[in-house]
Amino acid sequence: MFIDTHCHLSKEDYEDIDFILKENKEKGISKIIISGCDRASIDESIELSKNYSDIYLTLGYHPSEATITTDSDLEKLENLISSNDLKIVGIGEIGLDYHYGKEDIDLQKNLFRKQMSLASKYQLPVVIHSRDATEDTINILREFPEVSGDIHCFSGSIETARIYIEMGYKIGIGGVVTFKNSNLYKVVEEIGINNILLETDSPYLAPVPFRGKINSSKYIPFIAERISEILNISLDDVASITTENAFDMFDLK
Ligand code: NI
Repeated sequence: MFIDTHCHLSKEDYEDIDFILKENKEKGISKIIISGCDRASIDESIELSKNYSDIYLTLGYHPSEATITTDSDLEKLENLISSNDLKIVGIGEIGLDYHYGKEDIDLQKNLFRKQMSLASKYQLPVVIHSRDATEDTINILREFPEVSGDIHCFSGSIETARIYIEMGYKIGIGGVVTFKNSNLYKVVEEIGINNILLETDSPYLAPVPFRGKINSSKYIPFIAERISEILNISLDDVASITTENAFDMFDLK
């Protein structure tokens, strides 16, 4: 049994959601955590989680939404979190993204801090998106030592991974680990299976042999297989330990 700890699900990408979930089950993916990270996907993700028992939610405004996210959006998010009748297991993906420039850096940091505060207030884990912004991400996470979570789609150095782990975070490993030109295997070797959460980030970042195609949670076994090769442990161990890691981090009732 596998858990996809981070992916996105939308009718725009997958016409037949029933079929997608049926395929997941056939491949041993028992639960998926979908992320709503802008106004539209937050609404759609909530609806999907109500319709399917194996879908859980993380909600939060992505850094790319920093210029348009308002206080009333954040109020709405807090109301959803506190309502208690949704399967919200974390806040995210939230963080910093400097890949396309730094014009909105202050807005990004502000939005990130506000959502970290929500995580602290409601004792929820966070799913962190950090792209070309490692130092600032670490500094803001340090302001909230009571919060932990998942460093989603990690692609940094061994040293950076160690810092996150010391702070209580787990490292999200996805399809990139199967790419020939990726050095992520060195990080996996170093951190070991106990610090790893499996994720697809579908519809993005499909693993080899589907690289470049639309991704899906059903491809989690390809990521797990590569990790089992790197660590020289059985696929069953990768499945059971990463599933345990996911249950430790997220309240998947
Ligand atoms: Ni994502």
